[in-house]
Amino acid sequence: MNAPAHVPAELIYEFDYLTDTALLTDPHQRFAELGARFPGGIFYSTANGGHWVLTSYERFCAAARTPEIFSSNKVNIPPTEQPFLLIPINIDPPEHGHYRAAIAPAFAPAKMRTMEPAIEELSRELITAVAPDGHCEFVSAVAEPLPISIFMRWVGLPLERRLEFRDWAVTALTSTEPPVRMENMLKITEFMSEVIEERRQHPGDDIISSLFSAEIDGRPLKTEEIQAYCLLFFLAGLDTVVNAMSFGARHLATDHDLQARIRNNPDIVPAVVEEALRRYSFVNTARVVTRDYDFDGIQLAEGDMVMLSEAAADLDPNAFENPQDFILDRKGPRHVAFNTGPHACLGAHLARIELTIAYRTLCQTLPAFSLCPDRPAVFTGGSVMGLRELHLIW
Ligand code: HEM
Repeated sequence: MNAPAHVPAELIYEFDYLTDTALLTDPHQRFAELGARFPGGIFYSTANGGHWVLTSYERFCAAARTPEIFSSNKVNIPPTEQPFLLIPINIDPPEHGHYRAAIAPAFAPAKMRTMEPAIEELSRELITAVAPDGHCEFVSAVAEPLPISIFMRWVGLPLERRLEFRDWAVTALTSTEPPVRMENMLKITEFMSEVIEERRQHPGDDIISSLFSAEIDGRPLKTEEIQAYCLLFFLAGLDTVVNAMSFGARHLATDHDLQARIRNNPDIVPAVVEEALRRYSFVNTARVVTRDYDFDGIQLAEGDMVMLSEAAADLDPNAFENPQDFILDRKGPRHVAFNTGPHACLGAHLARIELTIAYRTLCQTLPAFSLCPDRPAVFTGGSVMGLRELHLIW
């Protein structure tokens, strides 16, 4: 497609976040390059129906915190007709606050901490199992089974279908074919509808059952609303921690000094988790512009799609000194790996607990580990960028 008339020619750049070769070689290097190429922190890609891309931390935060202009009513690029509502992401303030408050207690830090023993046990089990082999493909051996099993337990889903469910979530988020993405969304919705009905008959101590007693403005949730929450839990819970953990383990594998520091002093792991989330942020979320708007000198038109790249924002040298370096005691602004503003991630506590336990157990259980030189990592693009394969040796 051609760019619309209001887009200045110098800001047009062909970039397909689903198939871009440089992104699939090293996503963070690619987003850092895009940031450097467009010092104004914004450009327009004609790929995927046409959309702006925000590459500076400042523009990212401004958009994320101004939902009346940057609406999350559409969070897909290209903007498909959205038959599937995701609650609370697709709801704008002020209604958003009510929908978020209805589920916030289920995500509270104290509640999340009750999962620590199960996470410890499973981490030890998975990592001890591969230790004698001297090598592993980390994504399938640890990064997938750990957070996915914990999530399935939390939601009350059958563990034996874990790989099938992950495949639905990954395809729904990353397929280059919009009809395939929709087909997988439909599979998830149909499956979750059955689970919701089953849980209504036999409620348990899981997050889906807790939705039956949640209220919006004093009324119980409608079935469609419960379905929309569940679809988001499924998409958000099955793929994100897997990718965060894989990017973090990949970094650790290149830094034996950091591994040794963790072995000697596990108390530094929470700082490692934060810096790994910043250095390797991997979500590309989207917003739709609600009215013609002057965005700090750039004219946006009503209906324009805008991609907010966490990776580009967190590698912006104007926000983070030497952003490519891995620095544990960084001063300065907070990273936006979990976004900022009204839609900041509700699962952040759980994610932090899982990552902390996984990195600690990895360093304490394995001897010094490295990247396998013969089998390079395989990356995926899309709205949740990730690693499909990560081969480690020790
Ligand atoms: C390292 C792991 C994770 C990362 C990097 C991450 C990142 C994000 C980001 C960037 C958003 C904002 C999306 C937007 O504004 O369009 C978000 C929202 C959300 N995340 Fe996460 N997430 C992670 C793990 C989880 C987990 C495990 C759950 C549990 C189900 C979860 C549940 C949610 C929910 C419910 C929202 C919507 C919040 C709202 O709209 O108010 N996330 N997440």
